Amino acid sequence: MRLDFVALCVIISQVYGKNVTDDKYTPVVMWHGMGDSCCFVFSLGSLKKLIERTLDNRIYVKSLEIGGSYIRDYESGYFIHPDKQIEDACIQITNDKNLKNGFNAIGFSQGSQFLRALVQRCPSAKVKNLITLGGQHQGVYGLPNCPSLTTKTCEYLREILNFAAYAGWVQRTLVQATYWHDPKNEDIYRTKSTFIAEINNEKSVNQKYIDRLQKLENFVMVKFMNDSMVQPVDSSWFGFYKPGSDVELMTLEQSDIFTKEKLGLKKMKEDGKLKFIEIEGNHLQFRNEWFIENIVNAYLKN
Ligand SMILES: *[C@@H]1O[C@H](CO)[C@@H](O)[C@H](O)[C@H]1NC(C)=O
Ligand SMILES: *[C@@H]1O[C@H](CO)[C@@H](O)[C@H](O)[C@H]1NC(C)=O
Repeated sequence: MRLDFVALCVIISQVYGKNVTDDKYTPVVMWHGMGDSCCFVFSLGSLKKLIERTLDNRIYVKSLEIGGSYIRDYESGYFIHPDKQIEDACIQITNDKNLKNGFNAIGFSQGSQFLRALVQRCPSAKVKNLITLGGQHQGVYGLPNCPSLTTKTCEYLREILNFAAYAGWVQRTLVQATYWHDPKNEDIYRTKSTFIAEINNEKSVNQKYIDRLQKLENFVMVKFMNDSMVQPVDSSWFGFYKPGSDVELMTLEQSDIFTKEKLGLKKMKEDGKLKFIEIEGNHLQFRNEWFIENIVNAYLKN
């Protein structure tokens, strides 16, 4: 019985499977956010279908599944260190022959900074347009909401982050701690953050990170104006709180990362590669029509 089922799947995939050589558009790789997963229809699964449908099914879309199973993938959003996740993604991409000539990449929420890190760290990931929606490029200072966790668990998480985000064991076990950015303790942040400070070249400047970002055609950052998950919302545009304050904000252009050209973003801006898009609404709340017009038609038809 089981064998029949497998055989049926093989037949179906052969009949309906896409012929890669027929693809017209640059492939797309998507990376989901926390409390989400790669493939369920109610999460990125439906967006994958939307992209495929809009582009006449002549595109290869891969939604990254981290950890080798749906469950591990869901858990990865909370409990697998970004370094490990990026290594996993890099291996998957390197081994996928559909992606060897390059692809566009779309990150959702924390998947945004993970994909950017992938561009910076994974030489075989040849990304053309990097698109991030509701990302936290400068980290977060606060966790107002935790999708798909109970209120109690979320409160517990928040407490750990508020009091011990930079403790070694928290950095090792809790993904959200790795992009915790305390603007009142920038030195501690730079020293103890095991992820976001590193990929932002705040610990030391890694020239490879700069060079690899320059290869992007566009770096698109979408900010949700009424985002109740990203704190501060400006982090989606690479802005943050001013050092020493948890009230006053600064834009990317006002930050050290930009003025001291730690990541090459100034050059990218001069080259017209940085695209700032804002949309009214809460975290990742957008209509399909918006997505087709502003993302698919604008950046995926290459
Ligand atoms: C895929 O397309 C190529 C080139 O058009 C063709 O040679 C090949 O037979 C096709 N494969 C399948 C499985 O349809
Ligand atoms: C969203 O935020 C913008 C800018 O702060 C504000 O003008 C708008 O009224 C807000 N919309 C909603 C639905 O809260």
